[in-house]
Amino acid sequence: MQKPLLFTPLKLRGVTAPNRCVVSPMVQYRASDGLVNDYHLVHLGKFALGKFGIVFTENCAIEPRGRVTQGDLGLWDDGQIESHKRLVRFLKQEGALAATQITHSGRKGSTPRSFDKPGQLGPEGAGWQKWQVAGPSELAAADGWMVPRQLDATDVDDLVRKFGEAAKRADAAGYDVIEIHGAHGYLLAQFLSPISNKRNDQYGGDRAGRMRFPLAAARAVRESWPAHKPMFIRVSSVDGAGGWEVEDTVVFAKALKELGVDVIDCSSGGLTGLSTALPVKRSLGFQVPFAAAVKREAGISTMAVGLILDGPQAEAILQAGDADLIAIGRQALYDPFWAVHAAQELGCDSDFEMWTPEYGWWLDKRKNNLVGLKK
Ligand SMILES: Cc1cc2nc3c(=O)[nH]c(=O)nc-3n(C[C@H](O)[C@H](O)[C@H](O)COP(=O)(O)O)c2cc1C
Repeated sequence: MQKPLLFTPLKLRGVTAPNRCVVSPMVQYRASDGLVNDYHLVHLGKFALGKFGIVFTENCAIEPRGRVTQGDLGLWDDGQIESHKRLVRFLKQEGALAATQITHSGRKGSTPRSFDKPGQLGPEGAGWQKWQVAGPSELAAADGWMVPRQLDATDVDDLVRKFGEAAKRADAAGYDVIEIHGAHGYLLAQFLSPISNKRNDQYGGDRAGRMRFPLAAARAVRESWPAHKPMFIRVSSVDGAGGWEVEDTVVFAKALKELGVDVIDCSSGGLTGLSTALPVKRSLGFQVPFAAAVKREAGISTMAVGLILDGPQAEAILQAGDADLIAIGRQALYDPFWAVHAAQELGCDSDFEMWTPEYGWWLDKRKNNLVGLKK
């Protein structure tokens, strides 16, 4: 039997993902001062034990005000590198590629944890820090959200430099893969969309002007990130507010490909705060058509994400040529052993050989014990 594509290694520049199963970035609000701690090690470490080929950390801010919440991870200070090293070491030791996502929240920063009180921090703050947010224009993400300070051209140059510096720290920590968060209405997405970007300088106006800062940030990361390591960018393929559409994403993806981005991670939405108007009706694999369009029309590798639940569904996406990698978010929270379970669903690991041997040997023995037993 031919090995499923999901479990075929993927070479990206000088590194090879052992399979196409990826843990999507998921913020946990458990950091202090942006440092990785025991929680992150156990939370992400279990996905490496579950044999995901690439394990992403949550979004790591490039400066303190670029966090979404006070509890986000960071890569804004050299003093944070050591804490990341321990996590990276463990992920790699268990066979996964260690990946991180770098971000700036822009006008959508200074929020509480989503399960405390969705939205932005009010004056009461609930014990969480509140800070003045910044963005492309003086436009709040939604009613009741903070009006951001407008970043001037010098601020933008400074942020471009900070994206590059964060990439250098990610490299120093040992990460194999870096992703820029350009989606979900955070700073770079705010610059891309004409709904949030009303500037009339070189960073606003037509699509080329609105892409200028995100492309400069991507260039700074590519130049700071070793040539043998792959770079991804997550995009909102459509912004959900009618300002940025798939055609724009294809143009953006072509420009990103030119400057050395390897994979476009195709998400969507999020521009206007916690809008209930979803850009795409939720269905299984609802964002896969974006990954397929970008892959075909921009000629670049893509990662599909969003309500991908099991091995056969993931395999069908890869077989159709719609994406090269499959990112799993909430289903990995539900089942940290998603990857090895997917392999069993696809019939390529009936003897638990893909599992870490400390588990697999026993589970295979137990499988034989269970033959013929009834409850
Ligand atoms: C708890 C949680 C935290 C998230 N944090 C991030 C994040 O830090 N960066 C990001 O790009 N997406 C984030 N997302 C979005 C996920 O990466 C993913 O795109 C989304 O959940 C859809 O995939 P799913 O249906 O497999 O969960 C988060 C999602 C969840 C559930």
